Amino acid sequence: MIAVLALLAPLGCGIQTGVGAILNELKPAPGAVVAVFGTGAVGLGALMAAGLTGATRIVAVDIVPSRLELARALGATDTVNSAETDPVEALHAISGGIGIQTAVDTTGVPQVQTQALEALAPRGSLGLIGLRLGANFTAPGRTLLHGLTVRGIIEGDSDIVTFLPALVDLVRQGRLPLEKIVREYPLDAIDQAAADSATGKTIKPVIRF
Ligand SMILES: NC(=O)c1ccc[n+]([C@@H]2O[C@H](COP(=O)([O-])OP(=O)(O)OC[C@H]3O[C@@H](n4cnc5c(N)ncnc54)[C@H](O)[C@@H]3O)[C@@H](O)[C@H]2O)c1
Repeated sequence: MIAVLALLAPLGCGIQTGVGAILNELKPAPGAVVAVFGTGAVGLGALMAAGLTGATRIVAVDIVPSRLELARALGATDTVNSAETDPVEALHAISGGIGIQTAVDTTGVPQVQTQALEALAPRGSLGLIGLRLGANFTAPGRTLLHGLTVRGIIEGDSDIVTFLPALVDLVRQGRLPLEKIVREYPLDAIDQAAADSATGKTIKPVIRF
């Protein structure tokens, strides 16, 4: 059983960022197809938030099978292992050949950001959240001709005074099931927590001291 405070700890950054990107900024319309590239804490936050909207297909894209499995448990209707399958083709197929309305990149990998852009339908939106020092974002000119929007999002563009209490309420109601991604470690197991985070065994380690 995870203590309540440990459960709420990730709201302050990663979860706020992922959930806020969807609820505060990208706001997928009813019937939208949403794809989340990268299913760590930030991406899973975005994915759970998409489940609170009218989006009808929520697609998780990652290269780690266990993370895609967890994404399904948290509400993904479809998963794409982009180490095995071309995600652009897969997303066009899922959206009936139109392209998707909303994409979120949490990987910060330029090649993945291009894939997300190329998967968009005309007038679709891509939110850039993943940060990689020194990486540049480039967009092939032809992709932007379709009225696409690309938006960088910091901390979910949240007003923390209203947004954090709303997130706490959603957790209390079981609509943001953070217990599925948080694992608590004592301070003397901090190295283990870092190792489990690096291997992907634990999505969101929380150190108690
Ligand atoms: N913009 C902000 O305000 C803000 C706030 C918090 C975190 N971040 C950033 O968000 C990013 C994500 O954070 P996190 O805690 O979820 O990280 P994480 O490392 O747990 O998750 C990243 C995920 O991306 C996947 N991935 C990596 N390369 C991939 C590829 N080529 N194709 C598909 N998937 C790939 C990984 O398997 C992993 O599941 C980080 O870059 C972090 O710095 C940004």
